[in-house]
Amino acid sequence: MDVLLLGASGRIGQRTATELLDRGHAVTGVSRSGTVDDIDDDEFVAVAGDATDPDDVAKLATGHDAVVSTLGPSGDAAPDILTDMIEAVIEGLRRADVDRLVWTGGAGGLKVGPETLLIETEEFPEEWEPVARVAIEAYDILSEADDLAWTYVAPAALIEPGERTGEYRTADRELVADEEGDSYISMEDFAVALVDELESENAVHTYLGTGY
Ligand SMILES: NC(=O)c1ccc[n+]([C@@H]2O[C@H](COP(=O)([O-])OP(=O)(O)OC[C@H]3O[C@@H](n4cnc5c(N)ncnc54)[C@H](OP(=O)(O)O)[C@@H]3O)[C@@H](O)[C@H]2O)c1
Repeated sequence: MDVLLLGASGRIGQRTATELLDRGHAVTGVSRSGTVDDIDDDEFVAVAGDATDPDDVAKLATGHDAVVSTLGPSGDAAPDILTDMIEAVIEGLRRADVDRLVWTGGAGGLKVGPETLLIETEEFPEEWEPVARVAIEAYDILSEADDLAWTYVAPAALIEPGERTGEYRTADRELVADEEGDSYISMEDFAVALVDELESENAVHTYLGTGY
């Protein structure tokens, strides 16, 4: 596939670019600077673009088979930028006539019980609340875009650089945790989950939790 990867210079983005390339996809990697470190592959092109601008997104997405987002509010950006991004990406994809979107979201809106979301639990770190709330708003906006084949894929509660095992579990709208109740995934395995979903289209119109 020809994939447009928004946020390719980020922590999850770089690993997703590597996973896509290792599976034979061609990748156009977008960041504001237009540079992506540590990726040297004939099938990879780094380009500059602003994911809050629908014109930019439309121009960049045109001619690609699908868009994967690992965008986040990097630098000094306020968390609210995530809703600007999702609105611009939805509009840009419509204008470019590209309908497949795999979006990296947040775990805060996943269920940990029948009536409780992760963000509502006492253990949820206060400093993560603002970005988690905006990530839930972004999901609400995306969930209205019925004309796109979107999947909103959330990491586990904790995601860090680690190893690629290729093994992970998913759940529809639920937090994935192990027997001790720990919810974790490495960034490398999260990238595997994003690309598996891109290729399989198993969870279109789904808020997917991931973890071990
Ligand atoms: N447990 C959880 O729920 C959890 C944990 C971690 C992360 N996440 C989510 O996962 C996503 C990615 O996280 P990360 O740690 O990989 O983020 P990151 O390292 O900060 O990367 C963010 C990427 O977005 C790009 N970007 C930011 N603003 C942009 C703009 N206006 N136009 C184009 N590109 C832009 C950045 O590139 P430039 O700055 O160079 O433009 C960078 O490539 C985030 O949405 C984050 O909230 C969720």
